[in-house]
Amino acid sequence: MARPKIALIGAGMIGGTLAHMAAMKELGDIILFDIAEGIPEGKALDIAESGPSEGFDVKLKGTQDYADIAGADVCIVTAGVPRKPGMSRDDLLGINLKVMKAVGEGIKANAPDAFVICITNPLDAMVWALREFSGLPHNKVCGMAGVLDSARFRHFLAEEFKVSMRDVTAFVLGGHGDTMVPLTRYSTVAGIPLPDLIKMGWTTQDRLDAIVQRTRDGGAEIVGLLKSGSAYYAPATSAIEMAISYLKDQKRVLPCAAHVDGAYGLDGFYVGVPTVIGAGGIERVIDITLTKDEQAMFNKSVDAVKGLVKACKEIDSTLA
Ligand code: APR
Repeated sequence: MARPKIALIGAGMIGGTLAHMAAMKELGDIILFDIAEGIPEGKALDIAESGPSEGFDVKLKGTQDYADIAGADVCIVTAGVPRKPGMSRDDLLGINLKVMKAVGEGIKANAPDAFVICITNPLDAMVWALREFSGLPHNKVCGMAGVLDSARFRHFLAEEFKVSMRDVTAFVLGGHGDTMVPLTRYSTVAGIPLPDLIKMGWTTQDRLDAIVQRTRDGGAEIVGLLKSGSAYYAPATSAIEMAISYLKDQKRVLPCAAHVDGAYGLDGFYVGVPTVIGAGGIERVIDITLTKDEQAMFNKSVDAVKGLVKACKEIDSTLA
């Protein structure tokens, strides 16, 4: 049986890390696509040369030709530019929107059956645009944000409680970053909800609030430390977790930017929600009843994403 084919669109920091991880885990043969000549070829060759020591049997190829992604089972999209000093959000939106158009058309023509995971920021608007440009079914196009936000939350909680990260679960909703909505009542240590842990004296509301804020600012904290560039190890790991759930039909319950039609009072909108990812792509959106406060936070998050989608439609009239 042929190996699955993983196409990584964008061979920058996250794209290169994705390629390395996918090779180490032998997820399939890997195509690294980028418009920058030499970068995907160099990274593919470098990773392939680690194969003999690491002992993995997958092929890697770097390319500037969309024809090479033909028949890909999974496409993970990191193509785009990060925000630079002096650049407005709209400048970034305009540039990355054009990138999503090129990538969406490339996927549509060459890998229409792929499960597509978008990572490019601003995430919730870019995944919507990528779906529009690619024309793929909504259940086959999603965005990676919630797995990363909840992983950051779990990491900070595990440090606070001095327990294994494996025993901490976190439930997050909404857009990526600033407008993330953490549902503390559904976040647990081995099934014990966070509000109960406050009552048990494991932490205080103030400390928990600070952890939530640190999680929301998680991306900025890394940017502040690195000074040039943004996070790439944890974002890549998060997308790989989603890709594995699809490829192995694990039906993991993972939060991601998914097309929500009906749930949470939304009619056809991309935003972060808990989903089930299996061989059918986004097989289910888990719709839970929110408290008044949670709903207010969620609405704020949805409004922020709506503003970005509106801006996309103003920039590219074919999207309107
Ligand atoms: N097609 C393909 N690749 C492109 C295109 C395009 N039209 N435009 C830019 N690229 C490539 C760049 O050449 C670069 O190699 O996308 C890559 C982006 O890599 P980095 O700048 O290293 O960014 P990275 O840290 O990988 O983040 C990628 O994910 O988390 C988000 O905000 C982040 O939007 C950013 C994306």
